[in-house]
Amino acid sequence: MEIRKVGVVGCGLMGSGIAQVAAMAGFPTVVREVSTELLDKGLASIERSLKKLAEKGTISPDQAAQTLSRLKPTVNLDDFAECDLVIEAVVENLERKKEVFAALDQIVKPEGVFASNTSSLSITEMMISTRRAPQFLGLHFFNPVPLMKLVEVVRTVVTDPAVVELGLDYGRKVGKTPILTSDRAGFIVNRLLVPYLLDAIRALEEGFGSIEDIDNGMKLGCNHPMGPLTLLDFVGIETTYYIAEILFDEYREKRFAAPPLMKRMVLAGMYGRKSGKGFYDYADPKHPKPNHLLIA
Ligand code: 3HC
Repeated sequence: MEIRKVGVVGCGLMGSGIAQVAAMAGFPTVVREVSTELLDKGLASIERSLKKLAEKGTISPDQAAQTLSRLKPTVNLDDFAECDLVIEAVVENLERKKEVFAALDQIVKPEGVFASNTSSLSITEMMISTRRAPQFLGLHFFNPVPLMKLVEVVRTVVTDPAVVELGLDYGRKVGKTPILTSDRAGFIVNRLLVPYLLDAIRALEEGFGSIEDIDNGMKLGCNHPMGPLTLLDFVGIETTYYIAEILFDEYREKRFAAPPLMKRMVLAGMYGRKSGKGFYDYADPKHPKPNHLLIA
């Protein structure tokens, strides 16, 4: 079993990064979106990222051009027929993902391997919408994909050990360090990260410190690249809320329960960076200012 051609379903924040690193590693890569508008948006973000990497000297301008030439953008799932590995990175909705995999199962050659980039949904539930359970696994990348060095390789109770090896090897080929885990909500990283992020919101609610002081505490005291409230704005408060709900549903433990402030922020459309407001205000994106949240 060898990966020669890669397919990526979805060209949003994660899908575009996943397609980019595949093409950078030399794989001819088909990337699909539901409309040409979304596809153009995703490709533009890949071009911006490659330009930044070339400016920094991480890759040469020629490598950037070759990467783009290896990408085959499409709006048609039929173009995945000859892919050896198809990575799904569509919206975090189980029904939508199952539909995509069921459709791919009819199209992709029988020996093709399927992977989902889900951060918290069950790989096993997606797997049962196909007839290729032993060839199904999770490949969970991190945002921003071109810079983050990790990929979680997630096996189910029936993933073929050779397919697990293939996933680990693919992670290395695209320049990441793979870690192996099994199919339980949150895998390794979100199982540890999400309770920490939720606790930072609780610390704010309980008056342990201001937004800036909580962030500086972890940034300067523990050398984290971003404080927890900045990271929540970066990942998306609504995305983290959604993941927390899935973790809570799986484990029924208080530490995975979303704090009231988080739920109110999501209801009010304060998603973080993407909506311009979260724990910080991004009116001037280069100099975010802490938001005055009426906590007490
Ligand atoms: N491609 C290429 N270059 C990029 C890029 C991309 N996609 N995104 C950012 N960069 C560049 C920036 O433009 C910047 O370049 P510059 O120095 O020329 O301005 C450079 O990378 C460094 O970025 P910044 O100066 O903005 O800031 P940092 O030095 O802090 O680096 C960071 C940015 C790598 C995002 C760093 O802050 C970091 O590591 N933060 C933590 C990220 C994290 O924890 N991610 C995981 C989230 S959890 C997750 O994804 C799981 C999911 O399931 C929820």
